[in-house]
Amino acid sequence: MDDRAAANFLKENNARHYWHPMADPKQMEANPPLILAGGEGLYIWDVDGTRYLDLMGGLWNVNVGHGRDEIKQAIIAQLDKLSYHNTFNGLANPPSIELSAKLTQLLAPEGMNKVMFGSGGSDANETAFKIARQFWKVMEQPDKVKFISLRNGYHGMQFGALSASGGMVWRRAYEPLMPGFYQIDNPDPYRNPWTDDPHELGRICAAILDREIKHQGAGTVAAFIAEPIQGAGGMIIPPENYWPLVREVCDKHDVLLIADEVVTGFGRTGAMFGSRGWGVKPDIISLAKGINSGYVPLGATVFNERIAEAWTRDHPLAAIMHGYTYAGHPLACAAACANIDIVVNENLTDNAAKVGKHFLNRLLELKDRHEVIGDVRGRGLMLAIEFVKDRETKEPFAPDDPFITGLGPRCLERGVLVRTQAHRVVLSPPLTFTEDAADEAADALDGALDGALSE
Ligand SMILES: Cc1ncc(COP(=O)(O)O)c(C=O)c1O
Repeated sequence: MDDRAAANFLKENNARHYWHPMADPKQMEANPPLILAGGEGLYIWDVDGTRYLDLMGGLWNVNVGHGRDEIKQAIIAQLDKLSYHNTFNGLANPPSIELSAKLTQLLAPEGMNKVMFGSGGSDANETAFKIARQFWKVMEQPDKVKFISLRNGYHGMQFGALSASGGMVWRRAYEPLMPGFYQIDNPDPYRNPWTDDPHELGRICAAILDREIKHQGAGTVAAFIAEPIQGAGGMIIPPENYWPLVREVCDKHDVLLIADEVVTGFGRTGAMFGSRGWGVKPDIISLAKGINSGYVPLGATVFNERIAEAWTRDHPLAAIMHGYTYAGHPLACAAACANIDIVVNENLTDNAAKVGKHFLNRLLELKDRHEVIGDVRGRGLMLAIEFVKDRETKEPFAPDDPFITGLGPRCLERGVLVRTQAHRVVLSPPLTFTEDAADEAADALDGALDGALSE
């Protein structure tokens, strides 16, 4: 089969057999996917050989860039030793132990002490929920079982994680979800019914959490979970005072604080961890994505000293009857150790802060040129452009408006891959991003907007 025939074989079989995540199969038939064949650094290319600047960074996760030799070598070296064995009771492997040490060392300022592994972000949050409930049982407070989360929060798609996720678009087709999960208003500086003053907004939204805990009864609430910056729900950056106030509220009611750092971990926001950027120490942190830049599926949940301490007690329910076949997968953990070394040694956190600022400034220039841009926001290399029909009323474009649906393809024509999400374009390139690449991206977006608006 020559290259063209091979590409056609893939396209035909994709249309015939493959249901993709987060997609309407009928629409996928009409708009076949870009079939990616390769990647190097900041770029990827498709089966037809066309190259694109990867402004999705995989899916907010390829922090060190594509095709890194250090990670490939670490995976190969591990394959030569042991490709897989389980880590259930009585068994372990070196890379997962090394990674647990590396993670707790990296998270020493937060007082993190114990680690459990899974295969992704949803797994990490399921583990966080189950261990949080078990913690309260072991602590002889078995009624503390409820979870509070934020509207527009995204914590994954398994039933527990989805029950905490606060977007109706993800929930509706799968309701009813799990009992014991409650969502409250999120602090959204651009869209909220209360105030334009960020400080006041932070105060109001923390007070809403306080009210909800009191309403539920603090003795029934296990934990509050949130992303340090909401990603999939719209790239929403809370005000500076929000997370510190949330920590105070949780402490006041003795409710655990779970930071879902699946996206914000490992440098993406310009701090090594998003919660560290807000100056807050969570009790539990969920990690995935940037932990090994997606080279092999991996998630991790880390627990602080207080939670670890509970397991020094004797309790009939203290055995951790939770875990996954692929927990501590040696290839994934070997990749993670190599990945974290790159993030630290190349100081990608500072690079994300510096280049992110430059990229944000370039996008703000686009806002001056295009009336359809209602808001541009970003922290490190997590950025978004929000499109509105009217800046005054902030009326958003419908997700199926041809202007919105045309943006992705127009960007591709100009050599950049972006993620359109409802009425937004979300940008999360690798943390090895450069100012030149940011200029290339901004120019392509500018051209794509000119093209879409001229129709
Ligand atoms: C904040 C957050 N948590 C959890 C998840 C779920 O991760 P996964 O898709 O690996 O299960 C995601 C995925 O995007 C996420 O953004």
